[in-house]
Amino acid sequence: MPAQIATAPPVTHATTLGLGVYRPRRIVPNAEIVDRIDSSDEWIRTRSGIEARRWAQDDETIVAMSTAAAREALTAANIPAEQIDAVILATSSQMVLGPSAGAVVATELGMHDTAAFDVSAGCAGFCYALANAANLVRAGQARHVLVIGVERLSDLLDPTDRTCAFIFADGAGAVVVGPSEVEGIGPVAWGSDGSQTSAIKQDKDFAQYFAEVAAAEASGGSTERPYIRMNGTAVFRWAVTFLEKACRDALDRSGVSVDQLDAFVPHQANSRITDALTRALHMPDSVAIARDIAESGNTSAASIPMAMEQLLRSGAAKPGDTALLLGFGAGLAYAGQVVTLPAITAG
Ligand code: UT7
Repeated sequence: MPAQIATAPPVTHATTLGLGVYRPRRIVPNAEIVDRIDSSDEWIRTRSGIEARRWAQDDETIVAMSTAAAREALTAANIPAEQIDAVILATSSQMVLGPSAGAVVATELGMHDTAAFDVSAGCAGFCYALANAANLVRAGQARHVLVIGVERLSDLLDPTDRTCAFIFADGAGAVVVGPSEVEGIGPVAWGSDGSQTSAIKQDKDFAQYFAEVAAAEASGGSTERPYIRMNGTAVFRWAVTFLEKACRDALDRSGVSVDQLDAFVPHQANSRITDALTRALHMPDSVAIARDIAESGNTSAASIPMAMEQLLRSGAAKPGDTALLLGFGAGLAYAGQVVTLPAITAG
């Protein structure tokens, strides 16, 4: 007779208790980028909605930005770091393969013996991590989970690439997920399509790059570092045709209708994608739409918590409101869920 394996006592519901962000100090206006890509401030504003973005400086590392955002989220949630049982960090721009950034951030925050790991799901990373955190809490495996979305995409940008140089940016956002009497994080609608990896990807892997560096050293030639590349039109088309269904799935699984939403926080990829989804879903005018892309650019795994914070900080939405989140990007991967918006810090 095999031994009976016990399960942790489950908790019924999970919610986001507090939210924090880190926005890098250096603001980079379109004017600083346009000359090298033969573009204009007007083209970038009208085609993407971006007016400026922030690019991290040397000291604003993945770990430093994550730690700052997490500290603010812990304060907003009123939960001390020692009560966190797991850290899940979503990123696609950490240049270190090991240890996980999550483990280093946990230690920076003063945690001891805390489960910590990283998630790689491109711009859908935050929603992937949030779904896993909610399930850990509901399953009774962790009481409080810290979820972080963070990027330093400026490290992967070819400044002469017309498709990527003006879009991608840096920053971090974090939420504390914990138990709740009512559900605050609906079931996730998610998926991926590996046949479309070429739509957004790092153009060469590091093994290839190191081989090129060695060959260049031997021959006296040169090589380019790996960069992020995107077929903007392919991603745009996928986003505006396929993702309406993902949003409807997330709403259906939560039993929430579009009319019951207070806010819509899609990944900040392009304001025209946000507009197309808003129209396709027939969102009423009463729904507050996140538009953080104007000042933050596309921060991939960090964009959803940063955009949530911007909505809450501006007063367009308030803690306790019902919001639809939708992350999407490289993979091509997506994840969406209906959530109750968390608290932010005062001031
Ligand atoms: O975060 C992960 C998910 N990422 C996304 O969801 C991004 C999705 N894609 C996009 O946001 C858009 O495709 C872009 C903003 C990247 C590009 O916008 P677009 O409207 O798809 O531009 P396009 O590539 O179709 O080009 C339209 C025109 C072309 O000129 P012609 O042929 O019409 O004369 C391009 O040469 O715009 C020109 N163009 C530019 N002009 C000024 C393309 N890039 C630029 C540029 N500046 N940077």
